[in-house]
Amino acid sequence: METIIKKIDRNQIDQVIMEEAGSILKNGGLVAFPTETVYGLGANALDEEAAKKTYAAKGRPSDNPLIVHIARLEDLGAIVESVPLIVDEIAAHFWPGPLTMIFNKNEKVPLGTTGGLETVAVRMPDDEIARELIIAGGGYVSAPSANTSGRPSPTTAQHVAEDLSGKIEMILDGGSVDIGVESTILDMTVTPPMILRPGAITKEMLSEVIGEVAVDETLISENSTKAPKAPGMKYRHYAPKAEMIIVDGEPEEAVRAIKQIAYEQVRLGYKVGIIASNESVDQYTTGVVKCIGSRVNEKTVARNLYKVLREFDEEEVDYIYSEAFPEAGIGTAIMNRLGKAAGHHVLQASEITKLQDYRRIVFVSNSANCRAPIAAAILRKQPLFQEYEVCARGLVVLFPEPLNPRAEELLARHHIETEGYETVALSEEEFGEDTLVLAMQDSIKQKIQNDYPGKGQVYTLCEFVNGSKEIPSVYGQTQEQYEQMYELIQGYVKKLANKLNEEAKNKCQMYT
Ligand code: TXA
Ligand code: MG
Repeated sequence: METIIKKIDRNQIDQVIMEEAGSILKNGGLVAFPTETVYGLGANALDEEAAKKTYAAKGRPSDNPLIVHIARLEDLGAIVESVPLIVDEIAAHFWPGPLTMIFNKNEKVPLGTTGGLETVAVRMPDDEIARELIIAGGGYVSAPSANTSGRPSPTTAQHVAEDLSGKIEMILDGGSVDIGVESTILDMTVTPPMILRPGAITKEMLSEVIGEVAVDETLISENSTKAPKAPGMKYRHYAPKAEMIIVDGEPEEAVRAIKQIAYEQVRLGYKVGIIASNESVDQYTTGVVKCIGSRVNEKTVARNLYKVLREFDEEEVDYIYSEAFPEAGIGTAIMNRLGKAAGHHVLQASEITKLQDYRRIVFVSNSANCRAPIAAAILRKQPLFQEYEVCARGLVVLFPEPLNPRAEELLARHHIETEGYETVALSEEEFGEDTLVLAMQDSIKQKIQNDYPGKGQVYTLCEFVNGSKEIPSVYGQTQEQYEQMYELIQGYVKKLANKLNEEAKNKCQMYT
């Protein structure tokens, strides 16, 4: 079947197209349409045959019930046994909107639509295109998310087309959705009402209107052996093709941990994806990095979540590492979906960061224009198991100077580029917990310890690699002495690289 795709302007809805779409629904066909949460795959909710087609198009198990979408509150009464008083209150606050309520159904709703259940899920979406389609289609439109079962829900018409082109009659393209995660599901058949799926209408928002609200315990405890009350929540939904892992912890520590793992995995030859936030995206140095949204406006995270997961499927990465978000407000829904995508595989950032002793290595010489930058340049060329920021500092640097020309020449001969180098003075900032300070000779180490008493981890390079000779300055001496100095530094730096790698080797296996 050829799928017709029609662009719709939300502010000026083309009635001819809506009538065409409505009659497809009335004749038992399938029309995908935008809602404010995700795109839905619409069918006539009161037609059992249409429900069968929906399951077939999605490849969805038929015990997973569909949500019936309505556009007018007065239509609710016709499909449910009774409408509790409290529902008017809830509807007044949250309908139309991203909230689905579950009721005991009446005989008008076929069991095909409800996956064999005696209850029915009902939602009144806010999107104008959705509302007009529902009315054009007869008032009751069943609509699961318009993705192939098991793939991330679609937030654009393009996503729908990727999954369902050729399998459904029509797609109404209303652009990107607003919210990006599916509606909150609230079971009204129990007291107190119970949240079966978190969404943009949060527990706090509901409690403000109706008081006590329960939460399905399978949502709270990952290890629950009970089946979730919303049948669809038991499936490994929202799953990207790659193995996904969430790295939980303070944002800064999580960034360090993800960088650490990504560096390691890339070194081992894997293609790594990273789900970053606006606040962290610039800090990553390896991997395919995608920004999911801003921590200060988590709505943006919800909006981009499925798009980013789909993009990673295209990238064919082996692993995806994701930052975590606080589980409050919309964050509860975000973490529910990310958690499902990751099969609840979560690593604690602090468990990872503690496996790397140093993140920054600072070589120190007198004026930072020869020995220290040579050591730094050589270390940067070594194959290192972990990522380090490597730099050179001088004890006395009054103003920035270029590299000593003879050092430049030595490095050039070893094919090491040094253009743009400028000397920088050692300062208090260099003594972070994760910094290893390596002085070129003992007198320099003494001076550092005098000037910054009790600070940092300071050694001579010679001492750190169990060498026997210091590396004194060869300033003004012969070419041969310069060359010997270079050889000595090179030998020590290679040993240093080995030592760092040796320490990192066993720890790395614990990452995944
Ligand atoms: O935001 C949304 O709700 C989107 C848009 C299109 O409206 N729809 C959506 O539908 O997410 P779907 O089919 O992907 O997810 C429906 C969820 C499933 O987890 C299903 O098990 C649950 O709702 N559900 C439906 N009827 C139910 C019922 N009677 N009792 C318990 N859970 C039910
Ligand atoms: Mg779905």
